[in-house]
Amino acid sequence: MVLLLLAMLTVCAAIPQDLYGKMFIFPQETNTAHVRLTTSRQELRNVTVCLRSFTDLHRGYPLFSLATPSLDNDFLIYKDDAHDQMNLHVRNQYVYFAGQNYKLNTWHSLCSTWASASGLAQLWLDGKPSSWKLVSRGSSINGPIIIVLGQEQDSHGGGFVITESFAGMLSDVHMWDYTISPCEIQTYMEDLSFTPGNVINWRALEFQIIGPALIEDKQKSCY
Ligand SMILES: *[C@@H]1O[C@H](CO)[C@@H](O)[C@H](O)[C@H]1NC(C)=O
Repeated sequence: MVLLLLAMLTVCAAIPQDLYGKMFIFPQETNTAHVRLTTSRQELRNVTVCLRSFTDLHRGYPLFSLATPSLDNDFLIYKDDAHDQMNLHVRNQYVYFAGQNYKLNTWHSLCSTWASASGLAQLWLDGKPSSWKLVSRGSSINGPIIIVLGQEQDSHGGGFVITESFAGMLSDVHMWDYTISPCEIQTYMEDLSFTPGNVINWRALEFQIIGPALIEDKQKSCY
């Protein structure tokens, strides 16, 4: 019976789901609740990650945590509340994007790009691009890759700390193995029709929910 249930859970996790119009809710600060996103990709030289988030957290928290066995912050987007900046970690090095005016209790659209060859990284928030920054030039992300939402990995798939957890909502998470163009980023930000991620695709998402986190409809305005 237990085996059957486990088998069913495994099958469920393996079927991609279209989460259009939905969001993940992390209603509690815990060191357990998280969503693990599945990709078969093992190596990345160019990266774009886009997502939408909503929170009222007054401390630092992760928005996207990608770890490999050797590097826990192989690609991490982390809100550094103390310094009012967004940090992008690539290959365990990081750059910061300051003065982004990240308001609480508001849906934000965020895209971050990085290209190995140039080492150039950029972060877009609500339609506005940041300065370009240089990080981990010439390096590449080498798997096996574990992607976690809701927690910050201090080890491959674990090492969660409650003070570095995310609470709030996340939606429209996409990841590409190339740097998408500024026009495509604008299209994403305006929630229009864009080419979905080819590494992580919200419209065909393979994932597992662990602990108190759930999927709900994203509220639309009434008119
Ligand atoms: C990464 O992007 C560069 C252009 O910025 C391109 O020349 C290169 O082929 C890409 N590498 C991979 C592995 O996609």
